[in-house]
Amino acid sequence: MELNAEEKKQAYDMMELWEDDLLERYPEKPKKAKEEFRNYENPARDTVKEFYRMNHTFQTYDFVLGKEKEFLGLKRKKMSLWEAVDYLNTLVDDSDPDIDLDQTQHLLQTSEAIRADGHPDWFILAGFLHDLGKVLCLFGEPQWAVVGDTFPVGCRFSDKIVYPNFFEANPDFNDERYNTKLGVYKESCGLRNVHMSWGHDEYIYHVMKDYLPEEGLYMLRYHSFYAQHREHAYEHLMDDHDREMFKWVDKFNPYDLYTKAPVKPNVEALRPYYEDLAAKYLPDTIQF
Ligand SMILES: [Fe+2]
Ligand SMILES: [Fe+2]
Repeated sequence: MELNAEEKKQAYDMMELWEDDLLERYPEKPKKAKEEFRNYENPARDTVKEFYRMNHTFQTYDFVLGKEKEFLGLKRKKMSLWEAVDYLNTLVDDSDPDIDLDQTQHLLQTSEAIRADGHPDWFILAGFLHDLGKVLCLFGEPQWAVVGDTFPVGCRFSDKIVYPNFFEANPDFNDERYNTKLGVYKESCGLRNVHMSWGHDEYIYHVMKDYLPEEGLYMLRYHSFYAQHREHAYEHLMDDHDREMFKWVDKFNPYDLYTKAPVKPNVEALRPYYEDLAAKYLPDTIQF
């Protein structure tokens, strides 16, 4: 199903709002107490709040298992890396004066900042790929099942997740199979055994899982798992290997959050470098 221009605009706006909200929650430089509550009456905040109400209500264990089944066979679309980038960019109407940066530019700002710091090329590529899972939106998925903070399902929702009260409307909240600390999992079972709420992180991880080093795959898979990387709320599900790999997730996160700048990267000038990277790590066509 094709999204119309209005639906694409809404999806794009929601992605922007979520990321702006993350910056409010996790500012690069912590704010002074007195600045803390500015924007108290902020219509954008109401939109974000409504977004989380939906996300927390509908991301149940069964919903996630269903989405995994629906999407992880990767039978939707075959695209080269650049076709996927161009496809994601159809979310944005170039002629819209409100748009500061399109998705390609966000990806490039992230990856170019990683490159400027001299990190390995797979790390740069992970930066470039990390939000490509947002193509789920173009496959007709609702925004609350594409973006937003991610969290484990099948066990108690942590009160460290943003707007925890909204989970009270989630059927799993009162389901004894899923509402204990460990739920369906075992202590220290490792995140590879844990189902995360459905969205662009889990999806892009599966699309790329045969192609990048594991450190890069962790970056893709857990980049929106703020309850863990900022609040350490799910230590009890992690094993030592996860802890080792999360050092890389932590390294990646600031590049995702804090590299948005008004200077637009020159997409055409940078493209050959990324085509070469893709040729080194990825097949000619990628299965989405
Ligand atoms: Fe993302
Ligand atoms: Fe991002």
